[in-house]
Amino acid sequence: MCGIIGYIGDKPANEIIFEGLLRLEYRGYDSAGIAVLDNGKIHVKKDLGKLSHLKELLLTDFGSHSPQGIGHTRWATHGRPSAFNAHPHGDSAGTLMVAHNGIIENYMKLKNRLIQSGCVFSSQTDSEVLAHLISINYSGNLEEAVLKALSEVEGAYAIAVIHKNHPDRLVCARKESPLILGIGEGENFIASDATAILHHTRNVIFLENLELATVKRDGVEIFDLSGNRVEKHIKQLDWNPVAAEKNGFPDFMLKEIYEQPQVIRNTIGGRTSEEEGKIYLTELGLSGPDIFKFQRIVIIGCGTAYYAGCVGKYLIESLVKMPVECDLASEFRYRNPLVDSHTLVIAISQSGETADTLAAVKEARKKGAKVLGVVNAKESSLTREVDGLVYIHAGPEIGVASTKAYTAMLTSLTLLALLLGKIRLTLTPEFVSEQIRALKILPQQIETILANHEQIKELAQTFMNSKNFLYLGRGFNFPTAMEGALKLKEISYIHAEAYAAGEMKHGPIALIDKDMPVFVIATNSSTYDKLISNIQEVNARSGTVIALCSEGDNEIYNHAHHKISVPNVSEILSPILNVVPLQLFAYYAANMKGLNVDQPRNLAKSVTVE
Ligand code: F6R
Repeated sequence: MCGIIGYIGDKPANEIIFEGLLRLEYRGYDSAGIAVLDNGKIHVKKDLGKLSHLKELLLTDFGSHSPQGIGHTRWATHGRPSAFNAHPHGDSAGTLMVAHNGIIENYMKLKNRLIQSGCVFSSQTDSEVLAHLISINYSGNLEEAVLKALSEVEGAYAIAVIHKNHPDRLVCARKESPLILGIGEGENFIASDATAILHHTRNVIFLENLELATVKRDGVEIFDLSGNRVEKHIKQLDWNPVAAEKNGFPDFMLKEIYEQPQVIRNTIGGRTSEEEGKIYLTELGLSGPDIFKFQRIVIIGCGTAYYAGCVGKYLIESLVKMPVECDLASEFRYRNPLVDSHTLVIAISQSGETADTLAAVKEARKKGAKVLGVVNAKESSLTREVDGLVYIHAGPEIGVASTKAYTAMLTSLTLLALLLGKIRLTLTPEFVSEQIRALKILPQQIETILANHEQIKELAQTFMNSKNFLYLGRGFNFPTAMEGALKLKEISYIHAEAYAAGEMKHGPIALIDKDMPVFVIATNSSTYDKLISNIQEVNARSGTVIALCSEGDNEIYNHAHHKISVPNVSEILSPILNVVPLQLFAYYAANMKGLNVDQPRNLAKSVTVE
């Protein structure tokens, strides 16, 4: 999704902005631009393409003397990716520039009105109306003009504005789309997220919905959209900027796959007592009586977070004995869901900014449900919309394809299920202690899988030119099959479908022939024998089977063409281990095809539009 960065200080603005845009690259984009203010004149450069190609355009003969400017990476929604649709956008007289993230829903109505009053549009974007609206409302006070313009727009926005009459300031505002201010010494920043500015400062102010800020070299002032001053606290982020770097790995995705043992240690760290069989989730925000009152649980999320939720359903139903439904946030929000004060809704999100998940949460709370967020990004919008939180502690995830956040979500959901089971008396302290012990061994077991990467790489080489793939799993590992298929398709562009193995004979079996490799998640489980029968059904139709099996399973050789072994673990914890070889398989297939694994085509890291 689009990324915004703004700078005011005494350094060359174009360099700082360009570097910030590079750090926002992971959000996904198709074009980029920078506008600077230099001696009362606005200069803008923008074009289609990746920053590596735009470097010369954005850094040569441009802006090096200007200490003030804004930059943007665009992920197209209204109007195709092109130089003229790239941001920042200006008004007809060239007095100001605006960078925008979000969607202005009533832009057509506004655009028609602005054209009639003489404004000349130079793009097909919804965002350009903001530049013209601010301009026609301007009579010397930039903040006032921005507030008036925003009072007319419907939709979501994070905006940053520069005006040629105001060399002392940047103005920014937000509704729904995220925006933060970075507070430096004699310099200040605006950014879509902290990754863009962590190298300059860790002191930040999170703008809330419907707030506007004036950002000057030596300070910031914040207002609500009625123009009243708002007092805000500066927060110091404890994120390590090095965590956002590649650390010697060729890409972020591989680095993040390898970080999983440490991430799981962090997720569990300080939250368990093995001796007493206790789990501590301090930000849960739910009391024991609250937890007893719930009659059902609904889990919502999108993409990988949704698949984590599907595992959560199996976990909670088996450990807490409560009915659980898992739904896609984009479906939940529009289906008039039957939730009330006896329902606990669990919303899962890495970014905490996914528009569908945020809207689904609002819908659930409107109907009286309590909402618990299972979230990675601290201070993200979702964390402010929920009644309680379970942070997954995965650290910044930069690769567009989610990996470490998924295993951290599964680990967090396991802790949550154990806690709920303990409170609702479905689990004994002894059982909880046993699970804590098993959870603590998981990082080592993942290290064993990572050490086996050469075998997985060879398999990826064998199958990288396949056109289609089928992934089969049952029970706890049906979601693993779905997540494995998603990883393969999103980064290697190989078509992959996932099916509950027992469902194959009801249709997809017709697809199986010698050109259809089938990945079967066949680790130890209560349905192992059934999976072996499913493998035989594939074999009987000349399909090629790759089986993911538990260490020491020699039986599987009689049935599968290829096998990948993973360490032995209980069925309830198996999804945390089993996904790792599938991540590596997808990674190597994409990498060997020469594809950009960190930024797959058409995808964005943070999906802040519907
Ligand atoms: C897939 C992927 C996406 C996200 C989805 C939800 O690898 O990353 O499917 O899982 O867009 O994002 P969050 O978790 O940020 O709400």
